[in-house]
Amino acid sequence: MAARNLGSTASPASTARLADTSVAEAFLASTVGGEHVAKRHRARFHPLEVAEVRPLTADAVEVTFAVPEALADDYTYLAGQYVALRAELEGHERRRSYSICRPPERGRISVAIKRDLGGVFSTWATSELKAGDTLDVMSPQGTFTSTLDALDGKHVVGIAAGSGITPLMALAHTVLARSATSEFELVYTNRSTLDVMFLEELADLKDRYPSRLAVHHVLSREQRTAPLLSGRIDAPKLETMLDLLIRPETVDEWFLCGPFELVQLARDTLAAKGVDPVHVRYELFTTDADRVEPRHGRHIVVERGEPTVAIEFTLDGQSSTVESPVSANESILNAALRIRPDVPFACAGGVCGTCRARLLEGSVAMTENYALEPDELERGYVLTCQSHPKSDRVVVDYDV
Ligand SMILES: Cc1cc2nc3c(=O)[nH]c(=O)nc-3n(C[C@H](O)[C@H](O)[C@H](O)COP(=O)(O)OP(=O)(O)OC[C@H]3O[C@@H](n4cnc5c(N)ncnc54)[C@H](O)[C@@H]3O)c2cc1C
Ligand code: FES
Repeated sequence: MAARNLGSTASPASTARLADTSVAEAFLASTVGGEHVAKRHRARFHPLEVAEVRPLTADAVEVTFAVPEALADDYTYLAGQYVALRAELEGHERRRSYSICRPPERGRISVAIKRDLGGVFSTWATSELKAGDTLDVMSPQGTFTSTLDALDGKHVVGIAAGSGITPLMALAHTVLARSATSEFELVYTNRSTLDVMFLEELADLKDRYPSRLAVHHVLSREQRTAPLLSGRIDAPKLETMLDLLIRPETVDEWFLCGPFELVQLARDTLAAKGVDPVHVRYELFTTDADRVEPRHGRHIVVERGEPTVAIEFTLDGQSSTVESPVSANESILNAALRIRPDVPFACAGGVCGTCRARLLEGSVAMTENYALEPDELERGYVLTCQSHPKSDRVVVDYDV
């Protein structure tokens, strides 16, 4: 890959420019009469062929899957969504989520995977996965998407660290292409220039939309000319960036993506600046919790006469009931997987939201929730991987 300098940090002006037609068309292809076709899909795996594996940095690759026309409707998506990938590695089934890095396009899905030191899936994907391989890919999921109906004159800001840039690439392309007056501003932090994923693409995007895209590269272990853009992003640095560069009062929507610490810092700082959380969307790639490989549908023995909870769930219009011993304190997901192996899940850690269902009856306690928005909770949605029944009977519906 050709070495490239980090771009300028000029703020976007409001000068109108014509949107890029091909990207705009790609997005419009996913809308019908203003309604997004990429509605929530039933989370289902299909084997897809890897069309290309493209190096992005020394430890990150872009993986593009070819989607056959027969499955194209199942793989429509909105910028900001992710897919779960599934592979058998080291004798275990591994499921990991990866955000889609390109604007909506029929027939192709591209994700970017960065090697996590010691990480099972990402190490395998960045070193061994190649064109021609086949991998199980779940239909696109996620709510880290723009809620802006009309983008004209809108100012959208993304804050990302490392691989957190992935959904923001799709969002930036889409926001800029859909309106000739929208603006996208990106704060992107990495250790050094060599770690910057999509460096070329960001520079190209900046060339295409010089007045409407601003990119602020912050490098934690490399000195940049501006001290504000050098070093780790902490609360004082972020506050100064907001005051001097971005000015929150001019921003319509925020997208935060990356590890827990950065996302939490940005949320807290924005809240302290008076930004309404309704306009702040975030996607966590990791939590600060230790990663434990989930045991799916783990075996549970129900002793005779033992108190149990009845868990009823509907999936694909088919209802089933499973008895779960109170003493097992089993999650709804685990219980459901014991009798229906196709119940959707990916991270099993409360992060991705793939296991979302609506609680129709009974009550549950949720251990973690990094995925559901307050309005989803209000409407009765729960993460079944984190939900433990607290009543004799619970009823959930995966289809709504
Ligand atoms: C919605 C969503 C979207 C995502 N999008 C992207 C994306 O676009 N690009 C991307 O690169 N990533 C993305 N991720 C993260 C991705 O899903 C994986 O979590 C990441 O690739 C690491 O997986 P792994 O199997 O390589 O690491 P794992 O094997 O799961 O390990 C993760 C880390 O934990 C450590 N670890 C492993 N086992 C233990 C243990 N027992 N105790 C303590 N530590 C342990 C490892 O050393 C490693 O650092 C996304 C995550 C989510 C939830
Ligand atoms: S499977 Fe990811 S939140 Fe439940």
